[in-house]
Order: sequence, then C-alpha cells, then structure tokens
Amino acid sequence: MANKKDYLKRAIQHIDITKQNVVPLVDAMQHMAFSARDLHRAADIYDRMLRDTGCGVILCLAGSLVSAGLKKVFVDMIRNNMVDAIVSTGANIIDQDFFEALGFKHYIAEDEFKSGTRDGELRELMIDRIYDTFIDEEELRVCDEVTQKIFDEMEPRPYSSREALREFGAYLEKNGGPKTADSIIYEAYKRDVPIFVPAFSDCSAGFGIVAHQHARIGQNRPYVSFDSGRDFYELTQLKLKSKDTGLLMIGGGVPKNFAQDIVVAAEILTEDDAPMHKYAVQVTVADVRDGALSSSTLKEASSWGKVDTVYEQMVFSEATLAVPLIVGYAYHKNGWKSRTGRKWASLLEQPAAVA
Ligand SMILES: NC(=O)c1ccc[n+]([C@@H]2O[C@H](COP(=O)([O-])OP(=O)(O)OC[C@H]3O[C@@H](n4cnc5c(N)ncnc54)[C@H](O)[C@@H]3O)[C@@H](O)[C@H]2O)c1
Repeated sequence: MANKKDYLKRAIQHIDITKQNVVPLVDAMQHMAFSARDLHRAADIYDRMLRDTGCGVILCLAGSLVSAGLKKVFVDMIRNNMVDAIVSTGANIIDQDFFEALGFKHYIAEDEFKSGTRDGELRELMIDRIYDTFIDEEELRVCDEVTQKIFDEMEPRPYSSREALREFGAYLEKNGGPKTADSIIYEAYKRDVPIFVPAFSDCSAGFGIVAHQHARIGQNRPYVSFDSGRDFYELTQLKLKSKDTGLLMIGGGVPKNFAQDIVVAAEILTEDDAPMHKYAVQVTVADVRDGALSSSTLKEASSWGKVDTVYEQMVFSEATLAVPLIVGYAYHKNGWKSRTGRKWASLLEQPAAVA
C-alpha cells in the first residue's frame, strides 16, 4: 500500500492576480451574454466601490476558498486597501489560512479520488479530502492544538471573534511570523483589518476551545469564551461609522447574512433609517429555487431593506473561476490607489461606541 507521502506531493499554488492584467478580457465580456456579462458588471461594481472613497468594503467568505488556491487574492486585497473588514467562516480563516501560516500545505488530489471510492484508503492514511484537495489530518490536529495553546494564554473572559483573531495574529508575530509568504490572519493583524468569524467554534478553533474549556472547568478556573453578540455589535459599529458600505460576498452562509443584517441592526441602534449596503456582489453556485439564504438574490435582500438595487450583481459561478477575474479586474484598474487603510480594527479597540 502507498504511504501518505505518495499522496501529498503536489501542493496547491495560490493564484497571483497581480501577475496577469485581466482588464481587456473582463471588459470584452460585457459584450457577451449570460454569466460573462454578469461577471463584467460585478467586476465593474467592485471597482466602483473602491473608487467611492467614502465607502467601507466588507469581504464575506464561505466555502473552501483558501484551500482551493484563492488565499493570495484575499491577502493582496488587504495589502492594497481593497477591503476594510472580513466576515468569514472559520474553515477559511483557521483550518486553512492559519493552518498554512503554521507551515502546512494543501495538496492536489488526482481525479480518481473525486468519486469517493478510495476514501477508505485515505482514512487509513489520515488524509482528509475536500473534493480534489488533500490535507494531512495529523497536521490539522497540530493546528487544533495550537488554537488551544493560544486560548490558554489569553486572559479568561468572553471575546468577540475579532478580538480572538487578533490574538492569532499576535501569536504568529511572536513566533517569527507566518511560515508561508502570505497569510490572511497575519496581514489583517498588521494592517488593522478586522476579521469576524461569527460561528467561531465551527472549525479547528472549536476543537481548541472545547479542550481549553474542559481543562479549565475541571480545574474550577475561569476560561475564554466567544461572544457572538459582541461580533454583531462591533460589525454594526462599523456600519454606523461608515454610512456607505459595499459587500463583496464569495459563497453564502453565515457571513452573507451577518454582514447584510448590520443595516437592520444600525436602524435599531439609531432608531432611524440606516443606508442600505450601497454596492453588493455575490458569487455563488447555490440554486435560488431552494429559497434558502445562501441562494437568495440581492434583489430579494432589497425587499428586506438590506441592499440597494442600483449597484448589485449576482454571479452564478464557482468561486475559483470568478474571483480572480473580479478582483484581478479591480486590481489592474487601480481605483484602489485613491483609498487609504481605514484601520477599522483599531477603531474597535477604542472604548467609545458610535450611536
Ligand atoms: N468548507 C469546509 O471545508 C469546512 C471545514 C470545516 C468547518 N466548516 C464549517 O462549516 C460551516 C459552514 O461552512 P460554509 O458556509 O462554507 O458552508 P457551505 O459549504 O454550505 O457554503 C455556503 C454557501 O456558499 C456557496 N459556496 C461554497 N463554496 C463555493 C464556491 N467555491 N463557489 C461558489 N459558491 C460556493 C455554497 O453554494 C453554499 O450555498 C462553517 O462554520 C465552516 O467553518 C467548513
């Protein structure tokens, strides 16, 4: 039987949008039909968001985007002031980005594994599969353990995920920086871009927090916990601070709804109409017929008072195809050059709340 090393040979390489100018390609798509025309419009809306210097840009991430090779796209967005806050699943930020920052990699699985008939063999070797990608489960367990170590060293109290993730950035800083060229957590930490993971326990950090709390409860000592209400409060503060906001949503799930709902929360806090998200783009493969949140269109969100309908665009595409084109287009159009970093993380460290 083959051993683990035989399968974990070809690492996923993250696409670099700075290398290819996709502007002529994406511009040509506006004269086509179907998804190509939608994609051009989405790219144009993202570029407009960046040129609108009064607009705060929130990036929402669901699915397995980092393991799929999109990590550097998001890192380049942070580096170039193309995003002011991130709302994500824990899988992208901890299991995949922090995992790679610890020096681990994701690997290409050959086509024969996609059918699932060889998953039993993978189980024996402790290799986890995400469709056509492999992960060494023993390395993922190291990642779980490091999250516990970080929680053990934190002052025991409730934290927003944003605060907890700053501790992850600080951990990387203290330990010589990430063991990879690009890290979302680290770059965001350095540039004061807040990252929110509203379902923070639903990832590798969940195994760390369970172990941390179990040990502390056994010793009758106080422990770290996550305050999801605080996440929502903090993100709403950003909406109150930056009246105009734009959403670039990749996939659906909790990040999509959480970021959209801050308009409603801002209305509750001010007892006044808060401006809907002025710009919104969503890239998804979800099927609108199920009536679920992930597939709901941005027009539907406007019926809830969350998204304005002037600059909104759904792109029905798998993210690894659409994201390099949309973000690459805006990158090479250079609209972001007139923006400065909002440093929203520092703003949230200040005690005074905006109302
Ligand atoms: N994805 C993983 O491998 C993984 C691993 C560990 C934990 N989790 C946890 O599971 C929970 C749910 O994760 P989720 O929100 O990613 O669920 P999900 O995978 O159901 O994705 C949510 C939505 O995004 C869309 N989507 C996902 N990937 C896409 C892509 N590549 N292109 C276009 N659209 C895409 C899907 O169609 C779906 O509607 C989270 O808390 C996460 O941390 C996920």
